[in-house]
Amino acid sequence: MRVGCIGAGHIARALGQGWSRPALEGAPALAYHDVSPEAAERAAEATGAAVAGDLRDLVERSDVVVVAVRPQQVAEVLAAVAPLLGRRALVSVAAGVPLAELRAALPHDARVGRIMPNVAASLGLGTFLFVPGTLGEAEGEVERLFALAGDVVVLDERHFDSATAVAGCMPGILALLVRDFARAGERRGLDPDVARRLAIAGVHGAAAVIAKDGDPDAVIAATATPGGMTAAAITALEERDITEAVALAVHAAAERAKELT
Ligand SMILES: NC(=O)c1ccc[n+]([C@@H]2O[C@H](COP(=O)([O-])OP(=O)(O)OC[C@H]3O[C@@H](n4cnc5c(N)ncnc54)[C@H](OP(=O)(O)O)[C@@H]3O)[C@@H](O)[C@H]2O)c1
Repeated sequence: MRVGCIGAGHIARALGQGWSRPALEGAPALAYHDVSPEAAERAAEATGAAVAGDLRDLVERSDVVVVAVRPQQVAEVLAAVAPLLGRRALVSVAAGVPLAELRAALPHDARVGRIMPNVAASLGLGTFLFVPGTLGEAEGEVERLFALAGDVVVLDERHFDSATAVAGCMPGILALLVRDFARAGERRGLDPDVARRLAIAGVHGAAAVIAKDGDPDAVIAATATPGGMTAAAITALEERDITEAVALAVHAAAERAKELT
């Protein structure tokens, strides 16, 4: 499969890294186009991809076109792509740009869908929220493409912003927690490098255990021995209403999606 990314920034690079992992079977042939040729070169170098000469060249060498520019830049990109797209599939990874807006900017029979990736795609551990839209026959192909770099969850667009707030924002939010765990360790006298290493290794192992078990409550029960240290930590967080704080964070992210374009 041939894939062309319009925009070669953070998420386009993460996708390319996921699709170019060594020994990956069925890896797509990838090309980048960016208003900044240096950005396209950097992404191509990191992923073994090609750099398209211009937008037309990119579209012509693609079966699937991925729009990976910032939400405010999507309209301009679609206006330029519309006359070139033909029967190729187009997926937008932009937050806050609804399918109706994408469709309105493209020919009426365009094959178009939305995907919300996250940066864990770079390691093949991405979570992809997928609204197939009008992809039609190309839906399976697009789903298989993203499944090469993680887990694809098909969902109704009305849940897209909430799902994005839970999955798409997770790497950044978790990174903040890891940073704060490290800082808490430092405050208790740990060497900063040791504290950071412990926090990162801790979250890595914990995520693997939770993913394997599939039931966060079971992991809590297995680790929070009554009267023990984990139980004390959880009680301290619950006294500050961590559940409500997380709900507020998800709400804020989902609401923000409505203001992005
Ligand atoms: N970053 C994430 O973790 C993440 C996760 C999920 C979804 N997304 C979505 O992915 C999209 C891109 O995010 P990002 O963080 O990767 O942004 P980014 O790093 O700013 O990358 C966007 C790139 O597109 C370039 N660009 C702008 N207009 C263009 C045009 N007309 N043609 C070709 N290239 C153009 C930008 O150049 P200039 O900088 O010169 O404008 C920039 O290099 C956003 O819509 C975001 O909602 C991001």
